[in-house]
Amino acid sequence: MAEDLLLIEGTKEEQYQALLPQIEALLKGEEDVVANLANVSAALKQQFQWLWVGFYLVKKDELVLGPFQGPVACTRIKKGRGACGASWEKEAVIIVPDVEKFPGHIACSSLSRSEIVLPLVFKGEVVGVLDVDSADLNTFDATDEYYLKQIVALLQL
Ligand code: SME
Repeated sequence: MAEDLLLIEGTKEEQYQALLPQIEALLKGEEDVVANLANVSAALKQQFQWLWVGFYLVKKDELVLGPFQGPVACTRIKKGRGACGASWEKEAVIIVPDVEKFPGHIACSSLSRSEIVLPLVFKGEVVGVLDVDSADLNTFDATDEYYLKQIVALLQL
């Protein structure tokens, strides 16, 4: 397919609904994990203009920075640390409405105000996380969780 994204305006739901089939098309026929994680980060960042969108991948006992879009970020995160490490440890989606109120939050960027992290589960194990940071408070809710879950489910890790 042409690698141009059709960006749309509208409610968050409408934006996700327009983006989802485009991400599906971007991933179709490509097996390279880095290429796919890179394009998913870029597609989400282009559509939503969030501060930071990217992946951390489990390597031994740490999460290591993977493909992302946005400002430079921390490279290694221990299990249980920050929102990313908590998502890994609990195998759960973590929504942080205000990073200053999240115990142990790792401030990679002082501009980040809220965050959502989803575990990437492959063959029953967490192999990484998708982390999205916003420069505004209270950006993420159940709608983001619903659609981002569908997006990460498209990834073959
Ligand atoms: N804030 C995250 C760390 C990763 S960066 O935001 C890119 C955390 O608390 O796990």
